[in-house]
Amino acid sequence: MSKVALVTGGSRGIGAAIATALKSAGYTVAANYAGNDDAAAKFTAETGIKTYKWNVADYDASKAGIAQVEADLGPIDIVVANAGITRDAPFHKMTPEQWHQVIDTNLTGVFNTVHPIWPGMRERKFGRVVVISSINGQKGQFAQVNYAATKAGDLGIVKSLAQEGARAGITANAICPGYIATEMVMAVPEKVRDSIIAGIPAGRLGEPEEIARCVVFLVSDDAGFINGSTISANGAQFFV
Ligand SMILES: NC(=O)c1ccc[n+]([C@@H]2O[C@H](COP(=O)([O-])OP(=O)(O)OC[C@H]3O[C@@H](n4cnc5c(N)ncnc54)[C@H](OP(=O)(O)O)[C@@H]3O)[C@@H](O)[C@H]2O)c1
Repeated sequence: MSKVALVTGGSRGIGAAIATALKSAGYTVAANYAGNDDAAAKFTAETGIKTYKWNVADYDASKAGIAQVEADLGPIDIVVANAGITRDAPFHKMTPEQWHQVIDTNLTGVFNTVHPIWPGMRERKFGRVVVISSINGQKGQFAQVNYAATKAGDLGIVKSLAQEGARAGITANAICPGYIATEMVMAVPEKVRDSIIAGIPAGRLGEPEEIARCVVFLVSDDAGFINGSTISANGAQFFV
């Protein structure tokens, strides 16, 4: 039986590339999404990967969604907490709503995703947790106090989970992508995007598949001793 992987935010962008790469690597994959039914249906039609709609910011919905995935596909061995949003504004203009939306989705969403799966991983003495953080959680970013806080928080989550899970055969690692060519980045004005690219020594945006390949490695048996790490994939834009 192939191992079962759940990718949150797996219907578009980086998550879709991760889900597809995991399927190609032989895993049984479920992709969660929030509300864009058309994109999810298109993704399923193209890849054959089943999609499940729930809001990762809602603990009860996450628990129920995860229970449905496990009823359909079997116990989840691999979880990739990828779902994330931006609600950018300079701090003096940032509203409490923008703060809470991003915290609820990007940070509490990781808790809501991993927490219901964790006991089963502990019982079965195997698990792989990968959290998609961001370069901006490492270096901060103008107009992203909310987003940077969540992505820095992700790194604290994996370092702590790594220590708790190590004896139970569970690893938890983070990937910090730099700027990747997804709708999230293509949505910023072209002028801003050009200035972003000018600041990347590689001279280009990353591709979602470049992040997906990091995930495939981290969840493999070969990566069993890599635990609590952060992989930076940013075209030499920032070094920790
Ligand atoms: N793109 C970059 O340059 C970049 C760089 C560093 C880090 N990241 C991180 O990488 C991750 C993916 O980014 P992306 O650019 O691929 O994003 P994207 O293209 O905007 O796709 C986001 C995905 O997450 C889902 N999603 C959003 N909110 C959700 C929620 N509350 N519950 C469940 N699913 C939700 C979306 O579902 P719907 O389709 O239903 O909306 C979609 O499948 C994020 O955590 C982001 O912060 C991205």
